[in-house]
Amino acid sequence: MIKKCLFPVAGYGTRFLPATKSMPKEMLPIVNKPLVQYGVEEAIEAGMTTCALVTGRGKRAIADHFDISFELEQQISGTGKEKYLESIRDVLEKGVFTMVRQREMLGLGHAILTGEVLVGNEPFGVVLSDDLCLNDGMGVLSQMAELYNQFRCSIVAIQEVPREDVHKYGVIAGESLKDGIFRVDEMVEKPDPDKAPSNLAIIGRYILTPDIFDIIRETPPGANGEVQLTDALQTQARKGCVMAYQFKGRRFDCGSVPGFVEATNFVYENIYQQD
Ligand code: UTP
Repeated sequence: MIKKCLFPVAGYGTRFLPATKSMPKEMLPIVNKPLVQYGVEEAIEAGMTTCALVTGRGKRAIADHFDISFELEQQISGTGKEKYLESIRDVLEKGVFTMVRQREMLGLGHAILTGEVLVGNEPFGVVLSDDLCLNDGMGVLSQMAELYNQFRCSIVAIQEVPREDVHKYGVIAGESLKDGIFRVDEMVEKPDPDKAPSNLAIIGRYILTPDIFDIIRETPPGANGEVQLTDALQTQARKGCVMAYQFKGRRFDCGSVPGFVEATNFVYENIYQQD
């Protein structure tokens, strides 16, 4: 059983400036809950109760969010407002939170490597909390954890995207094993639409085997001078050790303003419960 989940939350979130000048992007709320809490709830539902946060400068609000606010607890104890704290109290009761700082933002691969000290030598989940995944049934990480038990290798969550959007994603090519499950042969980060091997785009949910750390260490910086996780996964894929999974559920790209607005409207209309 996979017990740990890594949350790389060190990025600058430039697409949301000036909102993200002094506030972490991951604390932007979708209605009344910060993005990162949705991700943590998904991990806990999948049994990954140790949440390892790779943070950076200016991200202290995330650490505070996953701690008790003593004054607040005192203030609203015994009042009708306690219900507003229910979801975060539940998360704090079930989850354990560990943190490490990424001192230089050298890319997602580098952020994952920074988390090695928190993960150790075991398979682990990864959530990029700006991808918000919502399901009626089992969460995406739970679906992937089931698949891991079957294949015992790294798994990336994929989604079909319009051809003209493939340049925003890592894209896979591979052999279809059964409905929605592929053995990955090739992965390309942000390809030109006419050179992309498919329109199956990798989104922000992964299960990684711990050999990924040594591979990242050996991986030179790629696109944008950043250490790309996709490049390290490509090395695993060459050994036949990466599966791609077309998950069930909806995903919103909350790292972009249109996706964020779409998610807000969806949650407000379908999930949020007013008094
Ligand atoms: P993004 O590139 O989408 O996030 O990285 P960003 O850089 O914060 O956003 P923009 O493009 O400037 O608006 C994907 C994820 O990887 C994390 C980010 O926090 C985000 O969750 N990340 C990225 C790190 O933790 N460290 C890095 O060095 C880079």
